[in-house]
Amino acid sequence: MAEGSSVSGGTGRIAVTASDDVMKVDLVRDRLARAQRVVVLTGAGISAESGVPTFRGEGGLWRQHRALDLATPQAFARDPRLVWEFYNWRREVLGPLEPNPGHNALVKLEQRVPQFTLITQNIDGLHARAGSRNMLELHGNIWHVRCLGCGKVAEDRSVLPLMPRCPGCGALLRPHVVWFGESLDPSILSTAFEAVQHAEIVMVIGTSGTVEPAASMGMVAKRKGACLVEINLEPTPFTTLYDTSILGKSGEILPMICESW
Ligand code: OAD
Repeated sequence: MAEGSSVSGGTGRIAVTASDDVMKVDLVRDRLARAQRVVVLTGAGISAESGVPTFRGEGGLWRQHRALDLATPQAFARDPRLVWEFYNWRREVLGPLEPNPGHNALVKLEQRVPQFTLITQNIDGLHARAGSRNMLELHGNIWHVRCLGCGKVAEDRSVLPLMPRCPGCGALLRPHVVWFGESLDPSILSTAFEAVQHAEIVMVIGTSGTVEPAASMGMVAKRKGACLVEINLEPTPFTTLYDTSILGKSGEILPMICESW
C-alpha cells in the first residue's frame, strides 16, 4: 500500500494510501469475521519481512543459485556434500530470524475462525514458531532431516556435518524438504486440497503462483465458490481472477485485517 490516510495496525499507525485499499481491508476483515472455513496459502513473501530471501524476486535465491545443482534428488545423489553445504548455509541464514507481524496476525486469525487451515510452501518453520497450529507444510521443513535408509524423520536445528548419518541405522540423512522433480507427501496434499475445496475464503499471500500444485489451489477453490483474496507486493498471473487483490506488504496488511480481534 502507498501513503495517504492511515489506519491503526497491531504494531502502531500504518500509512495507507488509497482509500480503495482501506475499503478492501475492511471488506476482507468483515468477511473473515463471519466465515466458518478459511484457508490461507502462503509463499516466500510472507517471510520476506523477517529477512528470508524469496526465490524469484530481486536478490532471490534462484537468481543466485542453480536450483538444478542444489535442490534435486539427482544433485544429492551426485554430490551430497555440496547439497548439505547449501542447506547448512540456509540454516545459518534462517536460524536467527524471527516471525514478523504477518505470521503473528495469522495466529490470531486461526484463533478466531472455527475451521482454519494454513497451507505453506515455506520450509523456514516461521509459521510454527509464531504459533500457527493447523498447518500443512507442502514443501517440508528445513529443520527436519530424513534418513535415506529407514525413512525416519527427525527435528534437528544444528548445523550438520556434510555427510550426516542416521543415529538409528547409520544411513545418510537428507533435508526433509521437497526438491524439484519430487512428489509432495500424498496425505499432506490430499488434506490441503480437501480444505481448499471446502473453504469459504482462501487467502493467497506472498507467492508468485509459479510452482504447482500450490499455484492451482486458488482456482480450485474459486471453482467451488470460495471468495479469493490475494495479498502480494505486486500483481501475479492470478490477480485478475481473484475477487480481491491487495497490493502491499503482508506484514503490514495482515495486522490491519486482524487489528480489532
Ligand atoms: P517466489 O519467490 O516465487 O515469490 C514470492 C512472492 O512474494 C512474489 O510474488 C513477491 O511479489 C511476493 N512478496 C515479496 N515480499 C512480499 C511481502 N513483504 N508481502 C507480500 N508479498 C511479498 O516464492 P514462492 O511463490 O513461495 O519451492 O515460490 C514457490 C516455491 O518455489 C517455493 O516453495 C520453492 C521455490 O522453488 C521449492 O523449493 C520446492
